[in-house]
Amino acid sequence: MDKTVIFIAHFKITSRLFMNKKLTVLFLLAAAVFFGTTAFKPKATPPDKWKNLKVLPQDISEDSLKVVMRTFNASLGVKCVFCHAMGDNGHPNFPSDDKPEKDIARYMMKMTKEINTTYFNFKKVANPDTIRVVTCYTCHKGDAHPEGIPPVDSTHMGMPPGNMPPASGMHDSTMHDSTMHKQ
Ligand code: HEC
Ligand code: HEC
Repeated sequence: MDKTVIFIAHFKITSRLFMNKKLTVLFLLAAAVFFGTTAFKPKATPPDKWKNLKVLPQDISEDSLKVVMRTFNASLGVKCVFCHAMGDNGHPNFPSDDKPEKDIARYMMKMTKEINTTYFNFKKVANPDTIRVVTCYTCHKGDAHPEGIPPVDSTHMGMPPGNMPPASGMHDSTMHDSTMHKQ
């Protein structure tokens, strides 16, 4: 068989496949229109689904809750059981408040929201609850215990904390003036 014939035959097959794909897509679209909203509506969460929410909305969807919890894991570099106590059945008991970390997380959620709504609503938006400038990750950076004090620079070793020279004087020639050492 001639090479061009093979090429054409091949092209015909692929184009037929392509046609079929197109038809499948069209069929799915038609199905979507036919079944209307019901088939593609996000799963509704029954109001009694969650047992012990004190900060998150009671009717939060399962998908949204999962996103929040996975974001906690990633922000603090921990697993779910860092905050959630284990139940007797060997699985985490998510509604339980037995681990103090869970309540600390609630305080942190309120604090983070407060920081955003009070201090980052520069545009005075009507729904400041949606502002996410500061998040758990801003402070935690994958660490459950973020450090509050920066690592001490070796040039300032020996100086008690809080006794660092003012930043404005750092590059001032008076730094090496004898008057500095008399203070
Ligand atoms: C940093 C702490 C923390 C981590 C890590 C965490 N959670 Fe949570 N979780 C909470 C807090 C706090 C609540 C309660 C929120 C509230 O009171 O509104 C909660 C609530 C829940 C609930 C709802 C329980 C109920 O019925 O009241 C589920 C389910 C859940 N978490 C699953 C998970 C899963 C799964 C993971 C891991 C992917 C996870 N959590 C990781 C802090 C955490
Ligand atoms: C403004 C900075 C900041 C933000 C924002 C923040 N945290 Fe924290 N968080 C800290 C600091 C600092 C500590 C350590 C406190 C200490 O060591 O006493 C901490 C401690 C914690 C602890 C306790 C860890 C332990 O082992 O005791 C949990 C749990 C926690 N944060 C969860 C969260 C979650 C969840 C969020 C987001 C909703 C969040 N934090 C947002 C600064 C922050």
